[in-house]
Amino acid sequence: MTFLFNSDARRGAVFAEAFAGELPDLPFAMDATTVDPDAVRYLITWTVPENLARYRNLEILFSLGAGVDQFRFDTVPAKVKVVRMIEQGIVRMMQEYVALAVLALHRNLPAYLAQQRAGEWRDIPQLQAAARRIGVLGLGQLGQAVLERLKPFSFPLAGWSRSPRRIEGVTCHDGRHGLEEMLEASDILVCLLPLTEETRGFLNAELFAKLPEGAALVHTGRGPQLDHEALVAALDSGQLSAAMIDVTDPEPLPPGHPFWSHPKIILTPHIASVTQPASAARAVIDNIKRHRAGLDPIGLVDRSRGY
Ligand code: NDP
Ligand code: OXD
Repeated sequence: MTFLFNSDARRGAVFAEAFAGELPDLPFAMDATTVDPDAVRYLITWTVPENLARYRNLEILFSLGAGVDQFRFDTVPAKVKVVRMIEQGIVRMMQEYVALAVLALHRNLPAYLAQQRAGEWRDIPQLQAAARRIGVLGLGQLGQAVLERLKPFSFPLAGWSRSPRRIEGVTCHDGRHGLEEMLEASDILVCLLPLTEETRGFLNAELFAKLPEGAALVHTGRGPQLDHEALVAALDSGQLSAAMIDVTDPEPLPPGHPFWSHPKIILTPHIASVTQPASAARAVIDNIKRHRAGLDPIGLVDRSRGY
């Protein structure tokens, strides 16, 4: 029985040390060429390797990331459990990033940066936080965590999910009608949806038109959820005032893409949140222990939903 680690050696060394301490009976391998494929019960990876079928006794396929849209489920046998990354490092970093982005947009940072570049010293009328409504698309581990982090600032908070949720201090919406209600009351919209067939192209002209005029966008979900041309058009028309974008399609963007230089866009290279090896190893070890005890792992993916 072997655990196979399919990623960079630096992270692998952190995992190897944690596994040696916590699961000394489980051989840990980082070089697929040296393992007996039939011994591999657990595999952790960013993307599904092309030769996955050789691991005939695989029980769990772990994703190194919180998202699993990079996995092609049709290449993974139905008996294999697919588990995404749920670990506190990812959560904390996403809380920081979204707090940074919401505050930057609330305090007109993109406009002030443009003014600085133009040598212009001018104040912009500033709303109080209690008048700036925040809507979060996706109320999973990350959506809920960022809402929790935003609470002390006094923004009116709302969120939207597929199934109904109750979160103290947050107006929760679900379903199509709930989406419309939330959009029309979101001055800053944050996208933390997983990428599925239902959410591909979700952030488009039709959606932007439902936001209040001058609303702003924070996009930390996945690149293919955003229609780039529609965003630029909404910014240029004034329907949107600014955007902070962490994920794009493709990544990286090609030279000359309008996002690189648009004065109303702050762009970051998919760094909102990064898997932290020590806490990720801890989470995977706990999940293997759960699996051995006959329990479902935390972060088990529902393949029919795609997340
Ligand atoms: P979860 O699976 O915990 O939460 C997903 C949420 O989205 C749930 O509330 C779910 O609803 C909702 N949702 C999914 N599909 C729909 C739909 N069609 N309509 C309405 N609501 C929907 O995911 P996480 O919070 O862990 O992560 C979210 C995403 O963040 C990841 O999939 C990844 O793409 C992205 N991410 C980005 C990172 C970055 O650095 N930029 C880092 C890490 C993650 P319900 O509650 O009803 O199931
Ligand atoms: C993730 C990511 O899904 O880094 O974890 O985007």
